[in-house]
Amino acid sequence: MRILMVSSEVAPWAKAGGLADAVGALSEALARAGHELKVVMPRYYRVDRDALEDTGLRVGSGFGEADAAVYATPLEDSGGTLYLLDREDLYGRDGIYGVPGETDFRDNPARYAFLCRGALELCRVLEWEPDVVHAHDWPTALMAVLVAEARASELPFFHKTASVLSIHNLGYQGVYPATDFERLGLAPDRFDQAGFEHYGRMNLLKAGLTMADALSTVSPTYAREIQTPDFGFGLDGLLRWRSADLVGILNGVDLGDWNPATDPYIAARYDAADLSGKAACKAALQREFGLPENPDVPLVAMISRLADQKGIGELFGPMYGAAWPICSEMDLQFAVLGSGEAWCERELSILSSRLPNFKARVGMDERLAHVVEAGADFFLMPSRYEPCGLSQLYSLRYGTLPVVRRTGGLADTVENYEQATGEGTGFVFDDLTPRAIYDTVGWAVWAWYNKGEHIEAMRARAMGRVFSWDRAATEYLALYRRAIARARGEPIEENE
Ligand code: ADP
Ligand code: GLC
Repeated sequence: MRILMVSSEVAPWAKAGGLADAVGALSEALARAGHELKVVMPRYYRVDRDALEDTGLRVGSGFGEADAAVYATPLEDSGGTLYLLDREDLYGRDGIYGVPGETDFRDNPARYAFLCRGALELCRVLEWEPDVVHAHDWPTALMAVLVAEARASELPFFHKTASVLSIHNLGYQGVYPATDFERLGLAPDRFDQAGFEHYGRMNLLKAGLTMADALSTVSPTYAREIQTPDFGFGLDGLLRWRSADLVGILNGVDLGDWNPATDPYIAARYDAADLSGKAACKAALQREFGLPENPDVPLVAMISRLADQKGIGELFGPMYGAAWPICSEMDLQFAVLGSGEAWCERELSILSSRLPNFKARVGMDERLAHVVEAGADFFLMPSRYEPCGLSQLYSLRYGTLPVVRRTGGLADTVENYEQATGEGTGFVFDDLTPRAIYDTVGWAVWAWYNKGEHIEAMRARAMGRVFSWDRAATEYLALYRRAIARARGEPIEENE
């Protein structure tokens, strides 16, 4: 199958969160399975041109804007190709979506509309007609509208192309003033017809969800949750209407990047059969964070975007958050790596200076993320909502037991500890309250001190849980086939 993947983030080239990992790993898995893969993203300022090949090609938006140079690089050794569109005025600045102080660049509609239009233009230039175009989240949701337009047009291209849109996070929808619609290069009547209109403003994700041939999100539980008002961010009605075309496909773990048996960033390598290396990893983590180097105290860690979605208010909120009583009343260590909301970054440094057993590092640091995953005993993720969550999958893989709220992909991937039998792969709670976080961390710490044999068995069990991108790729292929059948007006075969 010919698959065009379009995304604002692709790891390792540009990453703000799990979206980058997911798109990169899924593309490689599909290419390895023998499909023709072309992935398109912007050539952001931070992506070094010298590491790329200049194709000499240029693509435009198709409506009179400046055009972009096209760079390319192989997608690891999978056989696919990553193309990067280079236009100085749109992408030649620091930051993916924004910078501190301007967290959403004012011209993002134009920046991402150009990415989408340029991706289709590139297919024309390469004379490569995709069977399916797979877009991700609001930045590339416009792809679904463009594919539908192209299919209906006179131009002899994309007539058989289908579109799939994946929701990685419904909390970000790309909502802009209606006047920005003209930056997309569409006929004015499309504003209503394609579903952009949202309480008088322009909602890019909503249009994509309206127009795509098939929809997916990144876990089965989240696929159900987003059809309810509590998790729908105002789009639950639309998602219920499209329910028959929406599936939940769980993300996987890229074992090339996240594998304690081969990880180059960690102090000692280990696997499920022999976890002895984990002790050296714990000592290394304690050293790096300036915590007392002590094997006899449980180490709780967190790596996170510091955003409301992640439960940071309940955990770090000044005066009421759970972190202070957890650290001052329990015999444990707490290490945090994160960046995001300014109040929270400030609070982390205050906690670090006042509590001897709490240390935080602010910033994005890929290497340190590996050090933390390998060295910690527990990984805390008290998310308000979590479409899938990759960090807890990495934790399971590293024998670091997740302490999570039962929501979205966390509910689908972490099995709660059974104190009577020792079953489980982590610790799960329901209510997002400081009390519930406190109690559940307390429970994990209690088990660490009193049920060492359970913890050992849970670690080995967690490491044995397989979350494979090859399995996800197979499920996406079935979804692509449905989308293609729908786009071509052919009967849809179930259970392929
Ligand atoms: P989300 O995409 O909502 O942020 P995920 O759990 O799916 O959540 O993915 C988060 C990814 O981003 C993980 O790979 C995690 O290691 C990484 N990450 C988050 N914050 C940081 C940070 N400060 N430094 C390094 N990696 C980070
Ligand atoms: C989003 C979600 C996260 C998910 C990731 C990759 O950023 O917040 O839960 O794992 O996308 O799909």
